[in-house]
This record gives sequence, structure tokens and C-alpha cells, in this order.
Amino acid sequence: MLHDDIQAISAELSALHISGAEAAEQFRQTYLSKKGQITRLFERFREVAPEQRKEIGQLLNTLKQQAEGIWKEAKEKAEEEGGASSGFDASMPGYPSTVGNRHPLSLVANEIREVFARLGFTVAEGPEIEDDWHNFGALNFPEDHPARDMQDTFFVRSEKGLALRTHTSSVQIRMMEKGQPPFRMIMPGRVYRNEAISARAHCFFHQVEALYVDKNVSFADLKQTLLHFAQELFGADTKIRLRPSYFPFTEPSAEMDISCTVCGGKGCGICKYSGWVEILGCGMVHPNVLKNCNIDPEEYSGFALGMGIERIAILKYQVKDLRLFSQNDVRFLKQFSLEK
Ligand code: DAH
Repeated sequence: MLHDDIQAISAELSALHISGAEAAEQFRQTYLSKKGQITRLFERFREVAPEQRKEIGQLLNTLKQQAEGIWKEAKEKAEEEGGASSGFDASMPGYPSTVGNRHPLSLVANEIREVFARLGFTVAEGPEIEDDWHNFGALNFPEDHPARDMQDTFFVRSEKGLALRTHTSSVQIRMMEKGQPPFRMIMPGRVYRNEAISARAHCFFHQVEALYVDKNVSFADLKQTLLHFAQELFGADTKIRLRPSYFPFTEPSAEMDISCTVCGGKGCGICKYSGWVEILGCGMVHPNVLKNCNIDPEEYSGFALGMGIERIAILKYQVKDLRLFSQNDVRFLKQFSLEK
């Protein structure tokens, strides 16, 4: 009789003690699954005489609820207790918490800052939108100098002579205008030039400028500072070489090469088999520049230098494409160490 079978199973359920996720699942299969015992009892409901249907139907539903209650409780208890079979494996390694790292250009800029800080240089900054006077005029650029051309400079409001600064040398002027020597400072920042973007050129990049103005500053001071800087940044074996050059704001002017950091001077693809790579421009501050900032060139002299941070990063890390620095590809960016 179905009635008796229902009661027998109900009694059986009441006597059960289930513990653990596996036992809970076993229970579900035995009683509640498609082929489970309670499902089978439901199938036999068809045989029940009409006058008994109400009573048996109720009994069946109560039995099913009883079984479901037992199963749910057992399952929840197993999940609370944890354990591999609940799907939670306490022995699995956790997700590592990833920490960001500094941009390679920041790493290089910080390193440059540290080297100069040890020589007593402070850090100063100036605006990225500059007027003609600070970017060109005060720096002794003649009116018809090609750098003032639309093709090289991004003008913001050309009628007012406002442009995105093309170099950080403009900050030299801002600093000297508002103070009195001695000046011993570096000026890092972003600069802009109207160049087609390629692996070797970009419309914006970063520079660090250095300025030292005091009584009796000589070219020998410049040269020794440069040697020290190059060896601190690229290693004690690094050699430097100065080639005569021209900048409107320095006289005499020079460009500095360092012995190739990749081949050590023997010749390779990076240094185009010359053994040397150019890293910065420098010179003695032109007397006109000092005058433009109300500093007496008879009393004071100074040196200045400017370098591209990307260029140094490319040499230090052997990066082949300048565009990588601004594409924000994490796979590139996370290769640079956290230490510095
Ligand atoms: N301003 C120059 C440039 O952008 C770099 C430079 C050269 C800066 C010589 C200087 C310097 O201070 O003395 O190419």
C-alpha cells in the first residue's frame, strides 16, 4: 500500500543523521532525484482510488517537504563547515594582490633627480603653455629662427604668441627672472613639438633641464658635473665626449655623447657602430640670456644643460619604440622594477 510505504519512508527519514556534503548529495539522489524513492512514490499516485487521493496527496507532499528540508539543512551545514567537497578548497593558493609599478619615464626622471640632488640641485617646474618671450625671446632665439616656425611649434593662440613649450629651457628664464643668483636647480617636464609620430619621434616627450648660475662658474664645472652625472646614471666605466654645437642660449655650446651602454664602445647597432651615443645638449649660459633676466653677466656666469628623458630610458632599458612610453600597454609597463 502506498500509504504504508509513505509512512515507512517518513520514519526512515526521521531516523537519519546526515553529515558532510557528500552524504547530503547521496541523500538527494536516494530520495529526491528523478529515480529517487520519493519520486517513485509520486508516480504511484495514479493508482490511488479517488476517495483516497486527498489524504495520500497530502501525505506525499508532506514527505517531500520533509526530505527537502533535511537535504537543504545538511547541505548548508556542510557548506558552512567548508571542505573540498563543498566546492571551497581552503588549501588553494589565494589570488595575489597585484601592486602597480612606476612608469619607466618616472623611474629615469627620479634617478636623474637623485643624482642632481646629491650635488645640491633643487627641483623647479614651469607652465606647459608658454609665451614667446620665455620659450624663445629671452633665450636669445633670433626672430627668424626656424624653431619658431609653425611647423615645429604647436601654437595655442598665435596672435598672443602662446604655444606649448618646445623645451624646458623656458623654465630657466622663469626661475632667473624671479630670483637672484646663485641658482642651482633642475627642471623636469613635458614638452611638445609638431612632429609626425613614429618609433623615433613623438609630438610630446619629456626633458630635464639643469641650471647652475653663480660667481665663477666655469666650463670645467660643467664638464665635471656631466662626467659625474653620466657615471652615476650609466655606471662607473662610462666615458663622456663633448662635441662643439650651437644653441642660441649658450655660448660656447656642446653636445655630450656617452660611451655606448650596450657594447661599451666597441660598436653595435644601438650606437650605429660609432661606440658613442648622444644624450644631451649643454653650454655656458649666454650673456644675453642673463641680461634678459636682469642678471649681470660681468658678475655671474653659469652653465645649463638639457636632456630628453625618453632618450635616456631607451638607452637604459633598450626600448626600441618611443611610442611604447605613451601607449599604456600594461605588458610593457610592468616590466620595470619597483625599486627606484
Ligand atoms: N633646449 C634644448 C633642446 O630642447 C636642449 C638644451 C641644450 C638645453 C643646451 C640646455 C642647453 O639647457 O644648454 O634641444
